[in-house]
Amino acid sequence: MRKKVSIVGAGNVGATTAHWIASKELADVVLVDVVEGIPQGKALDLLEAMPVEKKDVHLIGSNDYEATANSDVVVITAGIPRKPGMSRDDLLNTNYKIMSDVVAKVVAQSPESILVIVSNPLDVMAQTAFRQAGFNRERVIGMAGVLDSARFRTFIAEELKVSVENVTAFVLGGHGDTMVPLPRYSTVAGIPITELIAPARLEQLIQRTRDGGAEIVKYLKAGSAFYAPGASTTEMVEAILKDKKKVMPCAAYLTGEYGINGYYIGVPCKLGAAGIEQIIEIKLTPEEDAALKKSAEAVKELCAVVGV
Ligand code: LAC
Repeated sequence: MRKKVSIVGAGNVGATTAHWIASKELADVVLVDVVEGIPQGKALDLLEAMPVEKKDVHLIGSNDYEATANSDVVVITAGIPRKPGMSRDDLLNTNYKIMSDVVAKVVAQSPESILVIVSNPLDVMAQTAFRQAGFNRERVIGMAGVLDSARFRTFIAEELKVSVENVTAFVLGGHGDTMVPLPRYSTVAGIPITELIAPARLEQLIQRTRDGGAEIVKYLKAGSAFYAPGASTTEMVEAILKDKKKVMPCAAYLTGEYGINGYYIGVPCKLGAAGIEQIIEIKLTPEEDAALKKSAEAVKELCAVVGV
């Protein structure tokens, strides 16, 4: 039997994630949204692309959660996106209510599923989902680090004019202005980028990574990025469905790792069939550690606003 992935929110991020998942033939997809007709229309349109793509997956759209029953993975993108000038944090109160409501409905239909949270502000939304779902932490994962690292990798590859395949990069911390790109752990074919890019230039690439989401919002005006977020979410879903044991930066609920207790924050995780199968603790310099703690404080403050 094919795997089943439900995607809540049939906006740009949700629909693009469905597109990547279908084009990689990873699973059947159910697209859910409150807006009538949109999930049905987009799912049918994607389904009709499958003969051309030569992929045997089924896609349906629905306005109710019964269609999502017994999903292996549920991706939650529901919520309002940013407008120019807004930070991810400005979305907090509205998306908190949406996330709580959605997770209750998802969990009632798919009590064994793994949740991949994509809505912003990411770390607090992951925490909201975790509290509401009552799942163990292995099964509630936030998508941010893969996207932030992908942006960093793009900028490094463009700077050095090398293949994107040669570039690995690590970005830790919250998905916000306090995120922590780690140049020491970012390499081109194994060579640390600190050997290849001068410090001042590297700092510019890091800042562009931090502002990566806002850069896109500024261009699009209505709405935020969706291709790279959709591709990043799909990489996580693939690692889970195929039990790949792939190490990537994800938002995970920490219980003492990195000296952080009781909050979601981006850290290196091993993703497999059980969800987060390991949180990898790497040794940080005092500066990196301070930056991660500062990022965690920012997440903590937002969690306090909505009481999660
Ligand atoms: C971004 C938004 C989606 O980083 O958080 O593009």
